[in-house]
Amino acid sequence: MSGFQAPKGTHDVLPPESARFASCVASFAGIVERAGYGLVVSPMFEDAAVFRRGAGESSDVARKEMYEFEDKGGDLLALRPEGTASVVRAYVQHRPLLPFKTWYVTPQFRYEQPQAGRYRQHHQLGVEVLGIEDPDVDVEVIALLVGYLSSLGLAQLELAVNSMGDRNCRPAYLESLTHFLATHESELCDEHRPGEGRPGWQLNPLRFFDCKRPECLALRPLAPRLGDWLCDACKAHHARVTEGLDALGIGWHQDDALVRGFDYYTRTTFEVASPALGTAQNALGGGGRYDGLVETLGGPPTPGVGFGSGIERVLLACDAEAVLPPPQRSVEVFVVDLVGGDAARLLTHELRAAGVPADRAFGGRSMKAQLKLADRSGALVALIVGPEERAAGVVTVRPLRAVAGEDGQRDRQQQVPRQLVVEHTRVLVGQLRAAA
Ligand code: HAM
Repeated sequence: MSGFQAPKGTHDVLPPESARFASCVASFAGIVERAGYGLVVSPMFEDAAVFRRGAGESSDVARKEMYEFEDKGGDLLALRPEGTASVVRAYVQHRPLLPFKTWYVTPQFRYEQPQAGRYRQHHQLGVEVLGIEDPDVDVEVIALLVGYLSSLGLAQLELAVNSMGDRNCRPAYLESLTHFLATHESELCDEHRPGEGRPGWQLNPLRFFDCKRPECLALRPLAPRLGDWLCDACKAHHARVTEGLDALGIGWHQDDALVRGFDYYTRTTFEVASPALGTAQNALGGGGRYDGLVETLGGPPTPGVGFGSGIERVLLACDAEAVLPPPQRSVEVFVVDLVGGDAARLLTHELRAAGVPADRAFGGRSMKAQLKLADRSGALVALIVGPEERAAGVVTVRPLRAVAGEDGQRDRQQQVPRQLVVEHTRVLVGQLRAAA
């Protein structure tokens, strides 16, 4: 019998790839924490209605992609398919002070057809801001997304923005779009043409713009533009957002079709795509404003805006642009012990306590085998304790990597008194790192 495999559409993240994964999280955390955002950790599963109502009944997430299950107590739960509804539910429950500026890193689960860049479990970094209507905060969150992606070394980024209008102006637009879709019904794709128990576009006319099938794409340029129906307040909001992006030197283009799959969006929507990916799955992150969602989930009227960015997708883009290589080494010192393990046990402990990353071999292996492991560990220095060193109360310190301008690594080997070796190594490693 062959061994178990990870479920379809999921994957294990192993070293060294996991170090790149961790770099994304660290970079993101640094950037958003410096902007005043605090981490939110919420349950991976919720009452299924939180996500169903949150994402909206017409979204693919609610209709087809949720991992829903009844638990042993009979409650209908769902694994988190997206992060926004979770944060909003937590806000409604706890009512922290506004503005509530948050970030998260979390696995998300969607029953999708797996393909390159699209998985059934992916990981998202995101922010959500509740309680601020000012369009400058839309600019702030967009700048955080672009800043994060740029910090990884990504240069090929295309930012699309749009406005979805609000509850004042959108109904009139929807009437116009409804008329258009009804008139062109026979030209729509199979999914959007109503028939045999299928509501098609009538489920939510805006979903027409999410459709990537040729029939719907061909009709798109003829459809009424939401931008032409915006009320003055939405127009002013959108103008202030785009003006803010210009002021920060962030390139953007208008995309009238950017309605972004969820039912909760109002006013600003945005997405950053990577042309380097060259596939349909090229969105590195996306989000927007959702001024009605807190109310939908039972709270008082409270504006909100945020985004999510898929870590796997971002790493694919890093591969495509050949940036963010895996870090070269994980430890700096490797202790080689030929005296039964006592020396390695204590030395690694002392080195780590002194802040020096250190590793060792186990199981009484030969000098040759231990040096091989030392080499593989990427360490800069080996500390060797054999019977002679032990008798003399010293440790042999052997640099393992040639430093530019030097040759003959072994010549630089020296013996250091045991009681001084931790401090000596700490300083030496610092010098080697600086010279590398
Ligand atoms: P989303 O566009 O569904 O938005 O997902 C955000 C990002 O997550 C995408 O741009 C992509 O990078 C990544 N992603 C999504 N689905 C997958 C998948 N199946 N496999 C791999 N990566 C994926 C949201 O989820 C919203 N909650 C974003 C938001 C926050 N809007 C407002 N606040």
